[in-house]
Amino acid sequence: MSVLFIAALAASALPETNYDESKVPEYALPDALLTLDGSRVETAEAWRTKRRPELLRLFAEQMYGKTPSASLPVEYETLSVDENALDGAATRKQIRIHFSGGALHMDVLLFLPNGAPSPAPAFIGLNFGGNHTVHSDPGIRLPESPMRTGEPASEEERGKSAGRWQAETVVSRGYALATAYYGDIDPDMDDGFRNGVHPLFHGEGVPAADEWGSIGAWAWGLSRALDMLLSENSVAARVDGSRVAVLGHSRLGKTALWAGAQDERFALTISNNSGCGGAALSRRRFGETVARINTAFPHWFCGNFKRYNENENALPFDQHQLIALIAPRPAYVASAEEDRWADPRGEFLSAKHADSVYRLLGTDGMSAEEMPPLESPAMSRIGYHIRRGGHDVKAYDWARFLDFADKHLR
Ligand code: GCU
Repeated sequence: MSVLFIAALAASALPETNYDESKVPEYALPDALLTLDGSRVETAEAWRTKRRPELLRLFAEQMYGKTPSASLPVEYETLSVDENALDGAATRKQIRIHFSGGALHMDVLLFLPNGAPSPAPAFIGLNFGGNHTVHSDPGIRLPESPMRTGEPASEEERGKSAGRWQAETVVSRGYALATAYYGDIDPDMDDGFRNGVHPLFHGEGVPAADEWGSIGAWAWGLSRALDMLLSENSVAARVDGSRVAVLGHSRLGKTALWAGAQDERFALTISNNSGCGGAALSRRRFGETVARINTAFPHWFCGNFKRYNENENALPFDQHQLIALIAPRPAYVASAEEDRWADPRGEFLSAKHADSVYRLLGTDGMSAEEMPPLESPAMSRIGYHIRRGGHDVKAYDWARFLDFADKHLR
């Protein structure tokens, strides 16, 4: 039997995808403030010292896998500087982060605003297709790591995702933009963790059932890029490391949430259409489910997460608690009307049910009681919008991310 045939069989054995709100099963969400021993967290201190570490551990061991605590040796190499990028509005820098003496590298592309006060706040996120897809600028290098197809990156793709990055707008509003290709950290393939960063920690072995998969690796990469922003002198002079927002779309939105939850140096976290395994509540089983995601993408989460296939109620948490782990730092969740696979209502409900933790920590949480209408953003400490259209990052989304960042990082 071919591998494809087996995968198709496994997927067809799953229940039909539900897009009917009336068929969402009844569920009880685990209380973010109730610890495993049954005691209730009543103070910010108890959240910080007891419940937050407990929840982080549960998400690591049961879902995304534990991130190694050891660090790899790094070196930073400036590949290029163009002080006149984006028609003079930005300085473009490309910095290569070498890990373990060159065993692996990640290229970070930066647009630093020329006309804004320095150091500037920044957005950082991974991209799907290589840095050269983020803008048509011919000076942006192609990645050396493979694409998801296994093929090398191609010149034809230059600028094809510019709409998803809005570099000119971001810079004109006084923010720096940093991005790296996610395949530099771990190629997005179910290949037994033979490439990318995993072998640098596991050698010939594979991660254990409670150790990181690909999303964990990508989140780790975001933290390593943040290390660089904070410590590479020429960059640190222009980027304010205490005001860095991490963002991502879809699987990379799941990644941004996990990065923001673990690494408290990220000042603000944005999830765009992250859906199942990201902002959407797993227990709703609306659109993509845990079993579907684990079947189609077995390498994204840790081995233990497969225990919850068709068994969501056994999860010791749900995704509202992932957002709660970001508290009291601002978090923004963006949905799209036609992106039902990602369950927009489930994404809103996660944002809303993180509220109790934000309030305990003394900030406001989610201002909207009900799911806001189309393109009427909720802009509290937790932000949310749902826009018209499908699964994508649009100018509308960026405009709201910038408004939200202006509110919290200025
Ligand atoms: C698939 C997957 C989603 C994911 C998306 C993406 O649709 O099922 O979970 O978010 O790919 O990353 O584009």
